[in-house]
Amino acid sequence: MIRHMLNFDFKSVLDIENKLFFCPWTKKDFLDSFVDKCNCYVYETNGSIVGYVVFKKNKYSIDILNIAVHEKFQLKNIGKELIDHVKNKLKNKRYYINVNVRETNLGCQLFLKRQEFKAIAVCEKYFYNEKNEEYEDSYLFAYNNI
Ligand SMILES: CC(C)(COP(=O)(O)OP(=O)(O)OC[C@H]1O[C@@H](n2cnc3c(N)ncnc32)[C@H](O)[C@@H]1OP(=O)(O)O)[C@@H](O)C(=O)NCCC(=O)NCCS
Repeated sequence: MIRHMLNFDFKSVLDIENKLFFCPWTKKDFLDSFVDKCNCYVYETNGSIVGYVVFKKNKYSIDILNIAVHEKFQLKNIGKELIDHVKNKLKNKRYYINVNVRETNLGCQLFLKRQEFKAIAVCEKYFYNEKNEEYEDSYLFAYNNI
């Protein structure tokens, strides 16, 4: 079941986030995305949170800011269901979904290609890794339903 992220989901969401990412979002990052009127959804199965997606609707497009699936639940189509959920928000004049992926995150790039996204640009030094104080390029992946 995909539903809105609520305050009491933070512990599970942060556990997943911390396990999966080198530079994970903090609780403040998730709270800031709420304040910034982002859409935050979790994937719940048997009472456990196993994935989530955070995205922002713009006038003509949607930006995915974060998407993740718990390691034990990967490759079971949960990521695809989360992306389909975002695709369902495309309507009227909103045609595009964009997501920036780290150059080194080949798994996510392959996943997005399976979801009919295309790499359309390289954004130099898009990510800053606080841990090693280095910048990393991103690939901008886009889906359009025109
Ligand atoms: C990327 C991620 C969200 C994918 O979620 P998932 O639930 O494992 O993906 P799905 O099971 O829905 O996969 C859908 C398709 O993508 C493919 N795919 C998914 N991950 C893949 C990988 N690492 N390498 C190659 N293909 C992959 C699947 O094989 C499947 O293909 P199919 O349609 O031919 O069966 C998940 O691996 C993840 O959380 N990764 C770590 C966090 C991350 O990198 N987030 C993205 C930041 S931009």
